[in-house]
Amino acid sequence: MTFSQLSAKKVSWSIGDTRIVDNISHAFRAGAVTGLLGPNGSGKSSLVRLLSGLNSPASGLVELDGRSIGSLGSRQRARTMAVMDQHHGTSQPTSVRQAVALGRIPHRSLLGGEHVVDRQIVGSVLSALDLTDFADRDLDTLSGGERQRVHIARALVQQPRVLLVDEPTNHLDIKAQFDILAILRQVATQAGSDNFSGTEAPTVVVALHDLNLAARYCDQLILLCEGRVVAAGKVQEVLTPANIRKVYGVDAAVMSHPVTGEFMVALAPLTHSAQTDQAHPVSQQRAATRGSEAAHSASVPAR
Ligand SMILES: Nc1ncnc2c1ncn2[C@@H]1O[C@H](COP(=O)(O)OP(=O)(O)O)[C@@H](O)[C@H]1O
Ligand SMILES: [Mg+2]
Repeated sequence: MTFSQLSAKKVSWSIGDTRIVDNISHAFRAGAVTGLLGPNGSGKSSLVRLLSGLNSPASGLVELDGRSIGSLGSRQRARTMAVMDQHHGTSQPTSVRQAVALGRIPHRSLLGGEHVVDRQIVGSVLSALDLTDFADRDLDTLSGGERQRVHIARALVQQPRVLLVDEPTNHLDIKAQFDILAILRQVATQAGSDNFSGTEAPTVVVALHDLNLAARYCDQLILLCEGRVVAAGKVQEVLTPANIRKVYGVDAAVMSHPVTGEFMVALAPLTHSAQTDQAHPVSQQRAATRGSEAAHSASVPAR
């Protein structure tokens, strides 16, 4: 198995005078899922678009294996990277199989049609994602979770080295959210197995809102606020009560899940005392005590 390296190097992007992505540097791990977290408007989608080459940085570079992705042609980029963005409209009635097969287009010769190998890859990805029974259904007749699986399938038949996914779990029920993240995790960690096509462990980057989904399924996290990286690293280093409070403006306690023992975060609106910490040393002390309680309860197994 080979590993590619996606890196952002001092990447910035502005609209007018407003800095939307501000000097972000990060080396994304192949064979792992990196979660992008941050409140609405913190720059997650903008960063995804920069990583994918859809937008070009105003300064800085996005590199894959030491080569600027700006230097890749669109076809070469589509052979290398797959992007699932927040808004994928279905313009016309399409069967699930047709929708997934679109992902093979970058691999076809310019005038060539679908080859046996394309059909084989589509078939095996449909099967790995439990979509075989839906193959001839119209995409519009699927549930939200099923449709997201189709979008992932289309991305996977591209056999990308980098898979960028923007908020794939919005509007999905809880089980579908788990299912989608579990698939992304399998994609990152089981490349070359019978289930997933492609022999290289891809780099998977996923923008998420739900901190507990991120904690459960991501290997690395990047926490963004106003276009900057506030924290990056392992789940437990990033999802600290202090970071969560700073970025989201809510109270957080970290603990072990009572059943699974996994790291989890319990959230609550800032209490009145916490909101007035600065002005009231007593409430500051109370908040500090709460913080240490949370720290005590955070003895959870590391990944
Ligand atoms: N094309 C655009 N035109 C104007 N503003 C934009 C555009 N794209 C993003 N923004 C602004 O950039 C900020 C970050 O947006 P975005 O990257 O979508 O954040 P997130 O995905 O974290 O919600 C927001 O304030 C948003 O309004
Ligand atoms: Mg977004």
